[in-house]
Amino acid sequence: MFGPNRSFLRSSQLTVPQLHSFFKDVAALKANVENGWPLDNLLSRSPRERVATLLFLEPSTRTRMSFEMACLRLGVQVSLFGDASNASTAKGETAADTFLNLKSMEPDVMIIRHGGDGDLETVIENSDVPVINAGQGAVGHPTQALLDAFTIQEAGFAFKDVRVLFVGDLKYSRVAHSDIELFQRLGMQVGAVCPAHLRWDEQKDIRYFQSLADGLKWSNVAMGLRIQKERHGAEATKIDLDEYVRAFRLDRGSLQNLAKDAFIMHPGPFVPMVDMHPEVLKDPRCLVHKQVTNGVYVRMVLLAIVLGLWKGSFNESA
Ligand code: NCD
Repeated sequence: MFGPNRSFLRSSQLTVPQLHSFFKDVAALKANVENGWPLDNLLSRSPRERVATLLFLEPSTRTRMSFEMACLRLGVQVSLFGDASNASTAKGETAADTFLNLKSMEPDVMIIRHGGDGDLETVIENSDVPVINAGQGAVGHPTQALLDAFTIQEAGFAFKDVRVLFVGDLKYSRVAHSDIELFQRLGMQVGAVCPAHLRWDEQKDIRYFQSLADGLKWSNVAMGLRIQKERHGAEATKIDLDEYVRAFRLDRGSLQNLAKDAFIMHPGPFVPMVDMHPEVLKDPRCLVHKQVTNGVYVRMVLLAIVLGLWKGSFNESA
């Protein structure tokens, strides 16, 4: 599954049986940490001598800090590439060269977020050091898909009973792209509501609804998405924000159409008053902060697997 270089670059790398055992392992690790038990019984060796390089070339709060927290909890050392404006990228060095230089320092794993630059993608694909994708342009965000699916299962659902409604920018959201790939393979149904020009036309079996109310009535998980305006280019002028808010915002009013035993999710960041009203965080159906908590556990297990330290039930050849 991870290939010769043990990289994790796309959600499709994990088979459905592997996903099920992965989620089982995440639940076991989470119980371990929350009970304050040592991790020794889950790890084959101490991770202390291992170093992870974090290279974030696009803005990030949750994902970067979540990977850092995952490393710290495991005991993996972190080498952090801070601010691109203060590094040789500001002198004209390409992202691909920056990656190759950091790789030459021989870390044990590299965790990278980038805008989808072609040369960089080539060096990542050919890297002899394992690479974990922490967000790749509009293409994908596979660890977010893992943590979202885990959170849905933890909420008590069997995947086959889940109807997820994505609300917002399906076309440019890398989270939506990885989520939908993974969710459909796990047996979830996927619906969406968005402005017509933000549909994800390449993906099949998405049920588009005419209105947010109709979509929310159909779904049992509502997933808000931020408008990815930094990727819109010429399409940037196509959205009238007032109209967008009236039609697509998740708030107390619109969420009256969602069942009481359903759930509300968002990968973050949400833009207050545009894609989600902050009052939604207080809704008992809201899982947004659980997603963040689970992100750390999902990344801990993934890192331990990639580093060859994991002793749980996950079977790479399943
Ligand atoms: C998202 C991202 O960067 O793809 N956030 C995240 O990583 N949790 C979503 C976004 O930026 O809208």
